[in-house]
Amino acid sequence: MAAEHPGYVWWKGELVAWNEATVHVTDLAWSAVGAVFEGIRGYWSAEREELLIFRLAEHLDRLQGSTRLVRLPMPYSTDELAQSISALIRENECREDTYIFPFVYGSSAAARFDPRKLESETLIRTTPMASHLGTGFSQHAKVSTWTRISDSVMPPRIKNISNYRNGQLATHEVKLDGYDVALMLNPQGKVSEAPGACVAFVRGGKLITPDVTSGILESITRDAVITLARDVLGIEVVERAVDRTELYLADEVFTCGTAAEITPLISVDKYPVGDGGIGPVTKALESALLGIVRGTDDRYAHWLTPVDATASVAAH
Ligand SMILES: Cc1ncc(COP(=O)(O)O)c(C=O)c1O
Repeated sequence: MAAEHPGYVWWKGELVAWNEATVHVTDLAWSAVGAVFEGIRGYWSAEREELLIFRLAEHLDRLQGSTRLVRLPMPYSTDELAQSISALIRENECREDTYIFPFVYGSSAAARFDPRKLESETLIRTTPMASHLGTGFSQHAKVSTWTRISDSVMPPRIKNISNYRNGQLATHEVKLDGYDVALMLNPQGKVSEAPGACVAFVRGGKLITPDVTSGILESITRDAVITLARDVLGIEVVERAVDRTELYLADEVFTCGTAAEITPLISVDKYPVGDGGIGPVTKALESALLGIVRGTDDRYAHWLTPVDATASVAAH
């Protein structure tokens, strides 16, 4: 039977065997409250025998910004983190689509309220995560009764772990109500995002998405989707405040994010989106992204960092 976890994590500056990467139980609770993280996808290319990491530098730069905003010390440069991720992928022999999770947490519980004494540790783990791009995967969405956190409460623009309690409450609510995914409104009653993805819709031939001051994460996939819509599909993209009812009248709606990739929403609050199927713009965007992340379309090859997952690892 295949192991249920990879052989190694990267922790405290080195590769550590999975079973040896432990903390004491009393370190739970406050250590994670102040943590920030990243979610990054690597796509396996069977032809090239390489894992192609999508927009690695952008994710690691965002991690640097997240640590800065919550005042966590970050001793590693973006280059050092990228090298550590490559080493971990090689050591874990990641020869399938993989989710890469760097996590920076406060390691000194005693210093949790004194920003001058904060200490941090960095953990990176990998886990298999298959792509669903182009498979026909779609979801039914419901606007949650929970309001999205705003920049005056907690910073939605960064991947601050505590933000995810807000999204988790919304997800619990809509799943118990029989839907697949929540959409959240900001305190102004405008559409913000899903708990783990941004949202965009097509209406009148334009792609429209809530702007970055609508209480959304500064999403890297959203940025890619905007680029592809403009440059590959040649359609106009508008970033602005969005009303909930615009989603009910949209021709197409989808979420986008690292885990979500591009996920068509085929109903919102039981209003069928368009004809209830996956629309042409969503399909074209999925197909464009799929070609890029698998390395078969080299127009955006600069978005990929290839790692040869079979290369032997230097001694550590
Ligand atoms: C709250 C939230 N919004 C949006 C996104 C999409 O961001 P990205 O495309 O950078 O993964 C994510 C993460 O995937 C998220 O957690």
